[in-house]
Amino acid sequence: MALPFRKKTVSTDTLPEQLPKHIGFIMDGNGRWATKRGMPRKFGHREGAKNFHDLTRYCRSIGIQNISFYVFSTENWKRPQEEVDAIMDLLWQYLNDCDEYLEQEVRMIFIGDKSRLPERIQKRMLELEADSAKYNKMNLLLAINYGGRDEIKHAAQEIAAEVKAGTLQPDQITEDTISQHLYTKDVPDVDLLIRPSGELRLSNFLIWQCAYAEYYFTNVLWPDFSREELNKALVEYSKRGRRFGGV
Ligand code: FPP
Repeated sequence: MALPFRKKTVSTDTLPEQLPKHIGFIMDGNGRWATKRGMPRKFGHREGAKNFHDLTRYCRSIGIQNISFYVFSTENWKRPQEEVDAIMDLLWQYLNDCDEYLEQEVRMIFIGDKSRLPERIQKRMLELEADSAKYNKMNLLLAINYGGRDEIKHAAQEIAAEVKAGTLQPDQITEDTISQHLYTKDVPDVDLLIRPSGELRLSNFLIWQCAYAEYYFTNVLWPDFSREELNKALVEYSKRGRRFGGV
């Protein structure tokens, strides 16, 4: 069953000309959003998923080239089984309701270690990646069973195997070699990292790719992080002086 989309409009008149090429979203605060309303945490995830849909559509409409969402971390398995199941159910529902994204020529990329996920989910992810590989209007990255350190470990293992096989010399390893072995190899580094809900940390999300990202924190909880809130973040981003270590 399709998730009821919230049809939202927001003025784009005040949007800055200089938009980030890659935005990372940490979808935090779903649990608190639900608890505040006396509802089980899984209702917060459901609202969070609706908001994810709405912001994805919005980013596509204003021409953001790459967006990444932290859906489920390598540490999230520690949550109560009922909550893990609820998130996996939402994910399964979403994976079967992606026509709109394909019609909009969005390329879908799933980052993280797929091997621990239920088999039907893994299979569907691979299908969607293959079906959307030809599209280039926007890259939509979903981090599922993802951890930044785990990703770098995985890259190191692949590089070590190439060295062992004699196809790569240790002194040929550059930063770009490492970038090219990450799940995000086809996507530029993150320009703007957004974390709502008042927490001020990266929580192992895209730690290599956020080396020069601008960070935007707000107390708004993820289900309430609307198009208007994103516009505020984009305006703030456009005012930051990015020097990448220069002067
Ligand atoms: C963090 O909030 C959120 C998560 C760990 C799960 C995010 C998942 C979704 C938004 C739903 C699935 C998405 C898709 C694309 C189908 P929290 O639970 O840690 O909130 P809290 O800090 O208030 O407890």
